This record gives sequence, C-alpha cells and structure tokens, in this order.
Amino acid sequence: MTSPVTWENRDGIALITIDSPPVNALGHAVRAGLWEAVEAAEADPAVRALVITAAGRSFPAGADIREFGKPPQAPLLPDLCDRIEVCTKPVIAALHGTALGGGLELALAAHVRIAHAKARVGFPEINLGLLPGAGGTQRAPRLIGAEQALQLMTGGRPVRAADALAMGLLDGVVEDGLTEAALALAADLVADGTAPVPTRDRTEGFRNPQVYAEAIAAARRQPHPPEQPAATRIADCVEAALLLPFEAGLAYERAAFEELQATPAARGLRHAFLSERRLSKTPEAGTEARPVEHLGVIGGGRTGAALVLSALSAGLRVTLVERDHDALIAALERIADIHEAEVARGRLTPEKRDEDWARLAGSAELPRLAEAEMIVEAVPEDLGLKAEIFSQLGRVARPGAILASATAALDIAALATAAGRPADTLAFRPWTEIPRSGLVELGVTPRTGAEAVATATALAARLGHRAVRATGPLLGRMMGAWAAAADGLLLAGSTPLRIDTALRGYGYRRGRYQAEDLIGLATLSGLRRPGLADGLAARGRTGCAVGAGWFDWPEGTRRAQENDEVLALVEAERQRHGLPSRPVGEEEIVLSCLLALIAEGTRVLADETALRPSDIDMALMIGLGFPRWRGGPMLAADMMGLLDAKNALAALAPENPELWTPADLLADLLKNGRSFEDLNGI
Ligand code: CAA
Repeated sequence: MTSPVTWENRDGIALITIDSPPVNALGHAVRAGLWEAVEAAEADPAVRALVITAAGRSFPAGADIREFGKPPQAPLLPDLCDRIEVCTKPVIAALHGTALGGGLELALAAHVRIAHAKARVGFPEINLGLLPGAGGTQRAPRLIGAEQALQLMTGGRPVRAADALAMGLLDGVVEDGLTEAALALAADLVADGTAPVPTRDRTEGFRNPQVYAEAIAAARRQPHPPEQPAATRIADCVEAALLLPFEAGLAYERAAFEELQATPAARGLRHAFLSERRLSKTPEAGTEARPVEHLGVIGGGRTGAALVLSALSAGLRVTLVERDHDALIAALERIADIHEAEVARGRLTPEKRDEDWARLAGSAELPRLAEAEMIVEAVPEDLGLKAEIFSQLGRVARPGAILASATAALDIAALATAAGRPADTLAFRPWTEIPRSGLVELGVTPRTGAEAVATATALAARLGHRAVRATGPLLGRMMGAWAAAADGLLLAGSTPLRIDTALRGYGYRRGRYQAEDLIGLATLSGLRRPGLADGLAARGRTGCAVGAGWFDWPEGTRRAQENDEVLALVEAERQRHGLPSRPVGEEEIVLSCLLALIAEGTRVLADETALRPSDIDMALMIGLGFPRWRGGPMLAADMMGLLDAKNALAALAPENPELWTPADLLADLLKNGRSFEDLNGI
C-alpha cells in the first residue's frame, strides 16, 4: 500500500507532503508515513531542513475521529510530535485550510509555523468532550500564555491566521505561494545556521506567572456540568504546563486525555459528530440538485413565515400565497414584524431588510407560483385542503418544479397522487420548536425521484438547516411518544415544573411543558389520552398559558407550576382514570421519557421511517434539543445496555402497551449480540 505521506529533496530541503483526503486526518497510516519521512530526511546528509505541508483542502484537521475508542496503533500522535520537535534539522510547518486539533499540535511541535492567509487554526477537541492530547496543552501556553490558550481550547472555535499570528501561535502568514514561502524560509534558516529552538524550550507565554495563574483561576470559576469535565481538565493541564517540567506535563496531559476519552460525554459527542455527517449519506447522495432561486410558499402561518424569512435571508426570491387578500396582509404583517424585531435587536441591518423585502412577492392566487422552482405548502393539517392545493399545483407549477408539503403528520403519497407528479413531490418539514434549531425532515415516498430529494436537501442546506431523510413523519412520532411518557408521569403525581426541571437537568434544551399552552398540552396528551383533551375542550379553555414559551425558562414553567387551573385539571383527570397520586422522582422522569423515545425509535427503524439509528439521534438532538453530549436516545440505549432497556420497557408495558412495547428489532439485536450502533454503517 502506498503511504499517504511522501517527501522529496528540493534543493536541500525535504518537502514532506501529507495526502490523505478528505481532510488529511492524522490516522495511523499518516502518522507512520510522517514518522518515516522525518527519520529519513533527518538521516539524509543532503537534507538541511524539513517542510511539512499537506495536499488537498487542508493541513490535518485533527486526529482521525474514527480511530477513537479503538486500540491505539504506534506511532501515537504525541510521540510523533515529540519526534518532530527533537529533529536536529529545522522543521517548518506550512498550514492551509483548517489546521485543527492534532493538526495544530503537529504544527506546534515544528520549529516554525507559517500559514496561508485564509487558513484557520484551533483546538475543537472540547466539542468532542476531549482536550488536545498531543502536547497542545503544554506547547501552546509556552507560546501564547494561559489566557489565549484557554480561550482557544475551552471555546473550541478556530481563529483566522491573522489572529493566530498576532497571538504568537504562528510565525508568518502569506497571501499565496505557501509552499514556496516555506521552502524559502527553510533555506534562510539553513543559511542563518542557528539551531532550531524546540517549542518545549520557549518561555514567552510564562513571562507573567501572575497573569497566567489568574487566567487559570478565571477558567475554573466557569460553571461546567460534572458529566462534561473537559474544560476543567484543560485548565488543569494548562496549569501543569507552568508548574511541571515539560515531560511531566506531557504525561499529565496524556492521563487527562485518556480519562476524558473514557467518559460517556466523549462517546456521545463523537457519535454526534459522526452522525451529523452521516445524515447526508442517503440513497440519493451524489444526485445533482435542480437550481432553486425562486421559492413559492403557500400559507404564511408560523411555519410558512419562518420559511419565507429564512429563504429571503439566504438570498432567494420568494412568492407567498395565502387563501385571500386579508390572510395575505396578515401574513405579510407577521413577516414584517419579525423583520422589524430582528432589526431592533441588531441582528439585521435596515439595508438587508429592504433587500430581502424587495425579493418578496405576495398573492392570493396559486397560478402566481408558475415560475417558482420549488413550492412548499404550509397550510393547516387538513388532507382535503392540501390535496386540493396539490392538484392545482399539478396544473400550474412549471415542469420540473419540486412540490413539497410541510405537513408534520399526513400522508405525502396522497398529495403526490393529487399533484400527478409523484417523482417531484415530497415532504419538507422545518422544525421550528427550537428557534434556529435547523432541522428539516424530508419525507419521501417510494415514487419520489432522487433529484427531488437532492434539490430539497440542497435548499435545506442553503437555509442553514440539516436535512434528515425519512419515509414518514419521524420527529413528530418521537416527540409524541416523549410527550406521552411525560403526560403519564403528570397523571401519576408529578407536576409540569418537576417534569421540566428533571428533563432540563438531564440536558434537554426544553422541557415537555415549557412551550405548551393548555390546548397544546391537551392535544399532545390526546395522542394517547383523549380524556384530557376532551376535558379542556369542554371547558372552552384555549390559549391559556401553561408555559410562557420555551425560551424564558424558568419563568414559563414557574407560571405553569403556579397555574392552579392546570394542576386542578390534572387532578380531575387523575380521579377520572382512578389513578392514585404517587411520588415521581427525577430519575423516573428522565428514564421514562428516554425509554419512550427508545421504544418509538425501534418502531421508526422497524418500519423503515428512518434510514438508521443515528438519524433518529440527530433529529432528536437538533429538533428536540436532546443533549448532544448524550448522543441521542438510540446511543443512550446502547450505553444503558439493550437488555436493561428491554426489561425496563417490559415492566412498563402493561400500563400502556402501545407506548412501551418496542418493535421486535430490539429482541433481534439482543439475540444477535448487536447494538443500534452496528446498524449505523460507516
Ligand atoms: N477525523 C476523521 N474524519 C474527519 C475529521 C477527523 N478529524 N474531520 C473531518 N472528517 C471527515 C468528515 O467525517 C467528512 O467525511 P465524509 O466526507 O466521509 O462525510 C469529511 O471529513 C469532510 O468533513 P465535513 O463534512 O465536516 O466538511 P467541512 O468542510 O464542513 O468541515 C472541518 C471540515 C472543519 C475539518 C470539520 O470536519 C471539522 O470540524 N472536523 C473535526 C475537527 C476536529 O474536531 N479535530 C480534532 C480531532 S480530536 C484531536 O485531534 C485530538 C487530539 O488532540 C489528538
């Protein structure tokens, strides 16, 4: 097998090139290749200096995430970094693209670093529940001090080359000709004849020990959940850089890295990273999308208005159609109000608002959509109404237009038939429960064409959303089960506040009841317990706030708790069902809601609504605010152990078999010693 690392002698300088697409991650073959190249170049008397560079889009973007959790293979990255640092000939790292994590650590082990002006560098390990484990926590503070090193490592955001240069992390930035500049620099160093100074011997960052110590203390004062110890351990390691000899500091960092790697949070975050990228691996991947510059939106309610706004913000032309003139005016006013609020908050400039507004047209006539390249219908959930709209669209839309419905629940196949264009029809469901949550569910039928899916996926990405491919309502089903479990606990004796507090304590971005008004509560409960919905409807109670909106927690839920009417209703419902009130603990709340998601997840997989378990996890993380560091409910099932999950579900089943009985898939996995993770593919 050819090595992904090659080198050649360019006038006495060894030009070492890493070539391992897509991002030159530092997997085993790359590490081994680099080690050999450095050894050979150092041993070669014709070589006076070394330049490490990378082909393709980027200098290494980090360790190879796919190797985490597997037995490590020598040479390990920390050893490779040491090997580079102790090289007796000057080593220059030439950075472009995104030099992240282990890639930046490799560069820090070199003696000099230059970068292309468009390069970005950083330590994103914290996003994976980790810390830089190849000397980064020891070398970076020696160059730039504790405050900036901590900012890079605990913030996890990459910085521009110019900023890294200003900090002292880089030694030079070039506009173009990176390799030539690196070779010229190497030649200068050789001509100069001064021995390279290894980063371990640099002390600029230690100049002011008091400032250094204050930065550590400030980092320690930041609150962090105990289950996510990475930030705390980063502060410990950066402190160790000042207090311990270099080798001892490295050993300290290594131990902390391994400790973090074994945490459930690191597993969850790694799973989230890989799951997010797996979302795009669909049967339609690689199909060319049709161009969409003009979007039609039918219905200017909450979903429609959100779509119009995000499409305008992405630079599209939009035609909004409402059922009549008055409804159109109301919808346009709603959109204008949101625009104005964004301007008032400083999120939108008045110029951009005017530009966006100029690309928006409104009408009460469907034929005005004849030029739109994609049309999304977002009217209330009424199959008859939607079918009528799709049948008209079949007549008026231009050939090749993608016809989509934002329906969260209804049968898309019926709409495809009504339009008479099954290959171009699909569901396009933006989830707006969590603002800027960025999830669009694509509902495809067996007759939906690959181009329609590719076009809708591309549009979702352009609007800043992740697309998850499903063959029916996915997130709606999962949320229904989650809500039903919470409602069961409410009737068993808990309160909205206790349930939401427990769920938020687990890490959900929203509780079950925060976003609900009474009728919402009743409708969701009505999925499994029509009684409560009927009770509320009979009392004519609509729009009475249980929660005042998810975002103003805890105010919303406090009001819910104080809302005697809700508590009285729940009590009446309890009595109607003859249910005794009992204490419900936090653990029970969290576990029940998780088990309900797991059970529904098995059903969603068994009927092939979702392509794979990790798509369900991702939909929940983005759309419901399931804690990312827990990796989603299907990973949580793997981590709890499938047998324990099955037994816990079996214990609950008699209470509500529809909710708690998993699909046979769970038993099959158990029988074959497999996990949900095994169903994810690569
Ligand atoms: N390991 C393995 N694969 C990686 C990778 C990594 N570190 N980073 C990216 N990839 C893969 C992605 O999985 C994706 O693969 P597919 O094409 O097969 O789906 C491909 O590279 C392209 O990635 P993106 O789709 O994310 O492309 P992008 O242009 O949107 O983003 C990126 C590129 C900024 C590098 C982004 O991928 C990213 O942030 N990567 C993670 C970087 C990271 O966390 N590095 C630290 C690793 S931990 C570490 O290094 C620990 C240590 O100290 C030893």
